[in-house]
Amino acid sequence: MKIKDFFLMTPKKFKRIMKEQFAKPEGVAGDFFTLAMNVINFKLYNAVYNFVGKDEGSKILDVGFGNGDMLKRLDEKLDNVKLYGVDISDHMVVVATSVNQDAVDKDRMFLQNASVEELPYDDDYFDTVYTINTIYFWQDREKSLSEILRVLRPGGKFICAFYSRDYFERKKQFMSEEETYYSPRELRDVISDAGFDNAKIKVVDSKKFMYCLVCEKRGNDADADKTHGPQQL
Ligand SMILES: C[S@@+](CC[C@H](N)C(=O)[O-])C[C@H]1O[C@@H](n2cnc3c(N)ncnc32)[C@H](O)[C@@H]1O
Repeated sequence: MKIKDFFLMTPKKFKRIMKEQFAKPEGVAGDFFTLAMNVINFKLYNAVYNFVGKDEGSKILDVGFGNGDMLKRLDEKLDNVKLYGVDISDHMVVVATSVNQDAVDKDRMFLQNASVEELPYDDDYFDTVYTINTIYFWQDREKSLSEILRVLRPGGKFICAFYSRDYFERKKQFMSEEETYYSPRELRDVISDAGFDNAKIKVVDSKKFMYCLVCEKRGNDADADKTHGPQQL
């Protein structure tokens, strides 16, 4: 889509495109909506930041990084960590790489076009895996969660920032039959059933239906409980 067409579209078309773009951003419209998400989701970014492992040498994976804004913030804030990311949109890989060019060039950040259902990493590789505003789009949830569990080291953390089902029920224009929405309690149960330990829900902003789930891969690593928070990006 050309820039001119994007700004001239009807409200009905705008809503349809917006729904598609959240699931897999592409082209000019994808650039626009991911920039909007950087502003709208900022409280979720901060919530995730408070739980991310910041220890020297930590390896951190962002699943569904969009335009790479959260990775850029982490790269600016954290020393001596390695940042990784996967996204199913090849356009987003191009955008996020350009946003984070220095980190990519200097091997502080590694971005790939891949799905959460097939993560291109070894077992027990990451200290922390996080995902922001993406879990509704995962087609095979069991496979996705088992992949995250596989690539986390024992004692490593999984952090999932999300809008609850109530949000989507109030904003029906964002809903799609192909997506799955969760109440905080449902998501906690899903995560526990998938084999994660100590799943806890943090309320980020109840009026905006923003939540953050934090859990661990079973292990006896004493570092697993460290949260380093609260801090602001
Ligand atoms: C709503 S956007 C959120 C982007 C970013 N996390 C943020 O909060 O700004 C969802 C992102 O998840 C990606 N995505 C959707 N399904 C995915 C999957 N199965 N595996 C990896 N990424 C996926 C999309 O391409 C998109 O970039």
